[in-house]
Amino acid sequence: MDTPTPRFSWLVESSTRGDRPKACQVLVSSARELLQSDIGDFWDTGMIDAEQRPSLEYLGEALQSCARYFWKVRWWDREGAASPWSEPASFVTAFLYEGDWKPKWIGARQVQEFRSKGTVLLGHPGADDTQACAIYVRRDFALKEKASLALVFISGLGHYELRLNGEKVGTSVLDPGWTDYKKKSLYSSYDVTSLVRDKNAVGIILGNGRHIKSYGYEQPKLTCRIEVEYESGERAVIFSDESWKTSPGPLQENGLYFGERYDARLLIDGWDQPGFDDGAWEKALAVAGYPLASQMMHPVRVTERLAPKSIIRLASGAFVFDFGQNFSGWTRLRVDGPMGTEVRLRHAELLNDDGTLNYGPNENAEATDVYILRGGGPEVYEPRFTYHGFRYVEMAGFPGEPGPGALEGCFAHSDVERTGTFSCSNELLNRVHRNVVWGQLSNLMSIPTDCPQRDERHGWLGDAHLSAEEAVYNFDMAAFYAKFLDDIRLAQKDDGSLPDVVPPYLPRLYPADPAWSSAYPTLVWLLWEHYADGRTIAKHYANLKKYIDFLGQNADRLIVRKLGKYGDWCPPGGIVPKKTPVDLTSTWYYYHDVLLIARLAAVLGRKEDAQQYAKLADSIRTAFNDTFLGETQYAAIRVSPVDNYPNQTSNALPLYLNMVPAEKKDKVLASLLQSVIRQQDFHVDTGILGTRYILDVLTDNDQAEVAYRMATHKSYPGWGYMLAEDATTLWERWEKLTGPAMNSQNHIMLGSIDAWFYRVIAGLSPALPGWEAVRVRPHVLGDLSSAEAKLETVAGMVRSAWNKAEDSFSMEVSIPVGAAGQVHIPLLWPGARIIESGKLLWRAGRAVESVPEVVLADLGGDGKRAVFKTGSGDYRFELKKSG
Ligand code: BGC
Repeated sequence: MDTPTPRFSWLVESSTRGDRPKACQVLVSSARELLQSDIGDFWDTGMIDAEQRPSLEYLGEALQSCARYFWKVRWWDREGAASPWSEPASFVTAFLYEGDWKPKWIGARQVQEFRSKGTVLLGHPGADDTQACAIYVRRDFALKEKASLALVFISGLGHYELRLNGEKVGTSVLDPGWTDYKKKSLYSSYDVTSLVRDKNAVGIILGNGRHIKSYGYEQPKLTCRIEVEYESGERAVIFSDESWKTSPGPLQENGLYFGERYDARLLIDGWDQPGFDDGAWEKALAVAGYPLASQMMHPVRVTERLAPKSIIRLASGAFVFDFGQNFSGWTRLRVDGPMGTEVRLRHAELLNDDGTLNYGPNENAEATDVYILRGGGPEVYEPRFTYHGFRYVEMAGFPGEPGPGALEGCFAHSDVERTGTFSCSNELLNRVHRNVVWGQLSNLMSIPTDCPQRDERHGWLGDAHLSAEEAVYNFDMAAFYAKFLDDIRLAQKDDGSLPDVVPPYLPRLYPADPAWSSAYPTLVWLLWEHYADGRTIAKHYANLKKYIDFLGQNADRLIVRKLGKYGDWCPPGGIVPKKTPVDLTSTWYYYHDVLLIARLAAVLGRKEDAQQYAKLADSIRTAFNDTFLGETQYAAIRVSPVDNYPNQTSNALPLYLNMVPAEKKDKVLASLLQSVIRQQDFHVDTGILGTRYILDVLTDNDQAEVAYRMATHKSYPGWGYMLAEDATTLWERWEKLTGPAMNSQNHIMLGSIDAWFYRVIAGLSPALPGWEAVRVRPHVLGDLSSAEAKLETVAGMVRSAWNKAEDSFSMEVSIPVGAAGQVHIPLLWPGARIIESGKLLWRAGRAVESVPEVVLADLGGDGKRAVFKTGSGDYRFELKKSG
């Protein structure tokens, strides 16, 4: 944590309906004992009003770098009764102030190199695809007395493994997160108090990751600082410098796309233990470094280990392992055999008809890990500096017959906390949801990636924002996106333009397609909506303005004609949009982004800006309609004079943002329905842009049943079709394609449907930023008889669960303490009654009896729902059919 003004947040519980915190008090202390005596020597807020939800910004004494602090909180309820103090929590600061970081950056004097196939997709001319073999770095250090706190701060680029006294420190892998290193590299901190002894050795293995020549970087390097506080209070610090030693080691070739080659015959026994004779090792070389920042996000970890579902022997003698699930990560090998035996593990998403692996979708990624046995007993190998996207592994060279224990799948991704669950009575939708979750996690690798298997795995901004709402429903994405937004900010050029891919490892991708760079305002807005993160808005506002100006400068009388590239990417039957004009999508996103910045300006209290942007949005809308709107439908690409078919995306986008002039709205909606129902038989004809919005547009225009049919059918193109074809994650393309082309089996850009499950089927959405008010508005659709979603929001636990029976319908709702509920109950039967807490709340449009904290409200009820305002608490509403 390297901010001098951290934010504190906590959740409160109360069994009283309608409870809300009236006041709170936070104490921050430099010592546990002080806190125990209720002394906040760094900060004592006193009893303050609890308005600042969901977090309180630190305003105490200046915090020190590399120090541990203890804190606790208490709150006063609605009646003014104080809670007991919370259990104490603690945090450790990193380097809070300029110039605090003292260690040198170091590398090896001599580096062995190898040539890596599939280094960079879209490699620029002159790209150098040589990479470094892993570098082993070590240093002994002694402690003169017992340490009360020992911390290691380290950044090792591209990736590192930190070891102390022979053991791996911590559980993170592929650390640090990817950034544009020259602008900002990330360091992590590890508490090693329980690992240090009198004599110690720190050992680090350095690999390539994305810190490679073809992206404009030099050899791997690291910077490290060990900070010790003795029980006496005295402190000692160890910095990385030229006294550290380096050597090659058993891990040789290593590359993200390439895989690894590990020769266990070259193991150096005891290299990471104290007292090892490193006389033959070379002194490290001091090298130029990069600006540093603390990695304030969840690290990548192995979160799940998968056993193979089957092992088949091929005619070639190799074995094929099927893990039954497409995922990101690698495999752990257990083997026992003669020295020098070479085991090769190659990874792929698909099989060929003859049972061999289909490497087509990997394109140039070799995805092969090679392990050479040391011999003399059981050996275990797990790669460090690569990852693959796969379901199948071909194992060649294994000595003997591998059993199921020979290979274990390791699912690796940014270890964001799972905060949402969804299920319903339709198994197909549950399976789509499950595939989205696997696909989303497979594509969180310190940045949101497009795919984990081929030679891309980049932060494509389109993929990132199109799937982001689903991601925030499923996971705690606050820190992840805050980091990624900073990557975007750092990627902005002086002219305000952004690239399609962030970090901009592929520099020729400037300026972005506006549908991709919309990720910038879209993610800022999403963090506001779901986490009430106002700090992020303030941090990015000026850059967002610059970006909007850039769009304006590149528009031709408000129509963006120059910047579009991909548009409504990957519609059925192709990659490039066949029917949606790219100028239409680019201009629509210009409007979309201006609307967002107008709202962001309003949040910041910048009224003038908000008004100006709202005015600009009006003008764009007029220009958009003048340019693209015909009599009954919006523009589509026409292939012949008889082609006058309406296009789904062209019509859905303006409906989504209410851009259609009132007198034409019905016609445009009719055109959309004509395409969806008559022409496509309830199938999508949308690429990734249209797909993101179409279900919402249908739902908001009273066509939720149509959306449901689109979401649940099993034929091409649709999510159900993917399932019917055995998909365990979502595909990049609507069609089942298996050749060596753009047909990843694990893309997340069509995953937005999952947000629709949470928001529309279960019915949960934030009615105020940070879930301070919760809208519960489920849709009882098609054959559904039940649905449930539960979210751990920043305001607390939110839940909706409904059940429909023959003549009754129940809805359970949980609203967190301090928040308000807006509960929309579908009136499934005319003349039905609504009961809560045994009281008849409602009959035939009228409130009858009353229940505390439940008030019949008119919140835009459309006559099809009864709407109640509630306070916090758990409620069970029942709708009974007969009078
Ligand atoms: C990626 C996409 C990305 C697209 C942009 C592809 O190669 O995999 O998901 O958005 O390029 O054109």
